[in-house]
Amino acid sequence: MNIGIDRLSFHTSNYYVDLKTIAEARSVDPEKYYIGIGQEKMSIPSPDEDVVTLAASAAYPLMKDGELDDVELLLFATESGIDQSKAAGIYVHGLLEMPSRCRTVELKQACYSGTAGLQFAIGFVARNPEKKALVIASDIARYELGSPGEATQGCGAVAMLVSANPRLMAIEPECGYYTADVMDFWRPNYRSEALVDGKYSAMVYIHALLESWKQYAELSNRTLADFDRFCYHIPFTKMAEKAYQKLAQKLKFKMSKEESHALLEESLRYSRITGNCYAASMYVGLLSLLETAEDDLAGKRIGLYSYGSGCVGEFFSGVVQPGYREFLYTDQHRNLLENRTKLTYQQYEDIFNYGVPTDGGEYVFPQYKTGPFRFSGISQHKREYESLVD
Ligand code: HMG
Repeated sequence: MNIGIDRLSFHTSNYYVDLKTIAEARSVDPEKYYIGIGQEKMSIPSPDEDVVTLAASAAYPLMKDGELDDVELLLFATESGIDQSKAAGIYVHGLLEMPSRCRTVELKQACYSGTAGLQFAIGFVARNPEKKALVIASDIARYELGSPGEATQGCGAVAMLVSANPRLMAIEPECGYYTADVMDFWRPNYRSEALVDGKYSAMVYIHALLESWKQYAELSNRTLADFDRFCYHIPFTKMAEKAYQKLAQKLKFKMSKEESHALLEESLRYSRITGNCYAASMYVGLLSLLETAEDDLAGKRIGLYSYGSGCVGEFFSGVVQPGYREFLYTDQHRNLLENRTKLTYQQYEDIFNYGVPTDGGEYVFPQYKTGPFRFSGISQHKREYESLVD
């Protein structure tokens, strides 16, 4: 029995800042961002958008299509947690009016937790083949203003329906995974911006890839030649490309820069204009590949590398299913990405500094342009959400 990703939907903020705007404010050559790290724009969440609204908006098309009726497991992967006790997924469960017979839990391991969710969901479906699981990865990447990480912010969420006989991608059983206790990137509870040792984090990302690949190759007997495309975790697009080249070099797998670029390029298109979505990033890359590749990918094997700082890496693979294009939300995603509002530098900084109040007071947030749900305020220490649809 094949198990894997049956539907995949995405949401990001309706606001973005162009990296040229950041470059001008920091007196940096914009080419450093456009070419050096391979990023053009980054999505900036408005004050009434958070990981819950991003997540519920990502999953809303699935709800409208009646795809959530058989879901009995909701896994919410995030490193932008909004509460130390209550799982953010429970708010989403409520907003989407999901059945009460459902296990709901939040998962954390930096950008890796979306993949943990997918693998746990596959285990659940193996035991309950007639049931489905909803895995949501939702994050807001924040670094300090003016820091080297600033240009690698972003936000977004993906909602993945996991089922038997999936219509998009069957996940293969072989996986290589690797854990090591390192401090390359972390966010203590008292901070709203991550701390990062940038260059070191890139080295650890690559090391975890080499270790994960080694196991995967042993278990599957596959080589790089067995893959038609790759999707890597995308903190910034250059990172994914460099890591693939390092792996190919290490394996003495001969290919030109152009050939290597072509294996990843389609998967990088969305991230180049949304920025890092942490736990959701690799899946934004997968959507970008499925929705923008011109050739039919049915039957093609995709190599997937997920990385979360701290750190855990995993290399695994999936095979794209016949007829997959019919089950994508390509037009909706294109429409969202093409109709966002560009922020000036001052608007970006004002939104960044607005943050989420932590003084326990009563707040009503101004209405910005969001998806079908918004974070409307805080009352008696409770977050309040509003549905903008019937
Ligand atoms: P930096 O140190 O300011 O940048 O920040 P740099 O000086 O290394 O320059 C970047 C690249 O631009 C270099 O290319 C320059 O040569 C080039 P490279 O040498 O690397 O090939 N460059 C130019 N190119 C064209 N024209 C120019 C120009 N000037 C320079 N004029 C850094 C870069 C990535 C360190 C920073 O953005 C950062 O700290 N980001 C956050 C950390 C990060 O994203 N790490 C990635 C791996 S860890 C990970 O993926 C996990 C993560 O997603 C978190 C999680 O798991 O939750 C982050």
